[in-house]
Amino acid sequence: MKHHKIGVLMGGMSSEREVSLRSGEAVVAALRDRGYRAEPIYVDRDLDLVLRQTAIDVAFIALHGRYGEDGCVQGLLEMMGVPYTGSDVLASALAMHKIKSKELFRLHNLPTPAYYVAAPDDDDVIDRHGDFGYPCVVKPAREGSSVGVTIVRAESELIAAIEAAACFDGDILVERYIAGREVSVAVLGDRALGAVEIAPHADFYDYAAKYQRGGSEYFIPPRLSPERYRGVLTHAVRAHLALGCRGATRVDMIVAEPGNEYVLEVNTIPGMTPTSLLPKIADASGIGFGELCEAIVLAATLPSHRPRGERRLGQRTYGGDERRIGAEHH
Ligand SMILES: Nc1ncnc2c1ncn2[C@@H]1O[C@H](COP(=O)(O)OP(=O)(O)O)[C@@H](O)[C@H]1O
Ligand SMILES: [Mg+2]
Repeated sequence: MKHHKIGVLMGGMSSEREVSLRSGEAVVAALRDRGYRAEPIYVDRDLDLVLRQTAIDVAFIALHGRYGEDGCVQGLLEMMGVPYTGSDVLASALAMHKIKSKELFRLHNLPTPAYYVAAPDDDDVIDRHGDFGYPCVVKPAREGSSVGVTIVRAESELIAAIEAAACFDGDILVERYIAGREVSVAVLGDRALGAVEIAPHADFYDYAAKYQRGGSEYFIPPRLSPERYRGVLTHAVRAHLALGCRGATRVDMIVAEPGNEYVLEVNTIPGMTPTSLLPKIADASGIGFGELCEAIVLAATLPSHRPRGERRLGQRTYGGDERRIGAEHH
């Protein structure tokens, strides 16, 4: 693999472009450090031309959001016959679409908050809401970084929240609000590496809590009993597999107190700077940033040519004493 040329796709056309550039640059540096021939590839609408000119052997996708994480770039790479990291076209598109993801979670008997689908042009939003109750959470189906997400505490706030979500997507999800600890699980292959508990200083893990320094506190591992922790890891792996994901993902969950563990969503291309959540969790489990990048590359194939079964990493233990860490969302 070391003689292969790895193109690290970064930038892109989504609102998360800047974060992607930081992920991509960190991945290039880490792979070069380990002796790989890694090249940055800055993504815009000319990506097909750039790929023809640079002739890479493997694409490491370090893009976030629309076009990068939703199956579009994956489809282009399939057509060009370039093996790529992470989830395939279908799994990427399903994970990006929170309503479709939840349909699959339910099919696989995974706990996910109760919900219904709202339409921005609905004549009577309040009528459709019926006795669903408050608080609830309104979100656009295909965004990230908590963009367009509102916690609605009373009927008087519902219409504005749906209009806010409609600025980002015509498909809108109204979900039951779950009070509890917010936990995000790192999955690699078909194994959970561990999890982080996020304690936002704000009302919920909104954009500012994700990206402003000091906006949240993070705990690895989460402050949960061993049984609950195991349950969280198991649900996360099942959610990853339910959508058909591959490579590294980060599964967002809420652990209700008391009650169930609920799956919110699966992120197929989590942030990949050394201080991002997934690399922090991997590090606590004994997999350093360089090793993590290498594992992701080694699992890259062309999905349409993939044999059955998944390459597994060696058996490792979930590690680390509970401690507060300095981390950032992406
Ligand atoms: N059902 C819910 N109950 C309580 N909080 C929620 C719920 N859904 C979302 N949130 C809050 O909103 C944040 C963003 O929601 P999420 O579904 O993970 O979308 P995004 O793709 O924007 O990260 C979560 O991290 C959590 O803080
Ligand atoms: Mg999330």
